[in-house]
Amino acid sequence: MTTARPTARRSMLTGVSSRARLIRRAEGRDAGAIGEIYDEAIASGVATFARGPHDAGERTSWLAARGDRAPVWVLDDHGDVLAWSALAPFSHRSWYDGVAEYTVYVADDARGQGVGRTMLDHLVDEAPALGYWKLVGMILEGNDAGLALATGRGFRQVGTHNAHGRVGDDWRDVTVVELHLEERP
Ligand SMILES: CC(C)(COP(=O)(O)OP(=O)(O)OC[C@H]1O[C@@H](n2cnc3c(N)ncnc32)[C@H](O)[C@@H]1OP(=O)(O)O)[C@@H](O)C(=O)NCCC(=O)NCCS
Repeated sequence: MTTARPTARRSMLTGVSSRARLIRRAEGRDAGAIGEIYDEAIASGVATFARGPHDAGERTSWLAARGDRAPVWVLDDHGDVLAWSALAPFSHRSWYDGVAEYTVYVADDARGQGVGRTMLDHLVDEAPALGYWKLVGMILEGNDAGLALATGRGFRQVGTHNAHGRVGDDWRDVTVVELHLEERP
């Protein structure tokens, strides 16, 4: 059975340390909430090239198809999923095995409270145990929050792909950000 997020509720989250303890691996019952948060962000037009809607059934299949090195986490505030995050291999090429693309999505009404930062810190902490040495993010043109989240955590702006994809009929640039998780040799 899956659960959707309740509407019109506010996070009662307090400190950063208590917030981090609310992160757990996503389960099938989170599929509805994950899809709802994803679709909220898609509606903004700047978060992703993905198109919705993502209902519980579609997200359940998505969760089930992910491999060991493509985990999904949620921040579960006493039964209310406020955010989700994920890692996925950056490339199918074996020599890029240590590079992961990260994803962080926070519910509209839980933003601006440090939840995104908590989720990204958690990914940075978890990634090395999964064999990743670098995280890469793809930030669409106009996604000021996504870029601020990454650069505020120390990600470097690698550069910008010109007209890398389309949202509807509109071309969008994509800025690549990266964080190396090991010291350089
Ligand atoms: C990006 C996102 C995850 C940020 O989540 P959040 O919980 O609001 O972020 P936080 O409150 O933790 O703030 C993180 C940083 O972003 C900055 N920020 C947040 N919203 C911002 C905005 N709209 N414009 C500019 N900066 C913003 C904060 O000031 C903070 O900066 P700091 O680290 O220098 O203090 C959220 O806006 C979201 O889910 N967007 C849709 C999905 C997406 O674009 N994900 C990123 C690419 S995977």
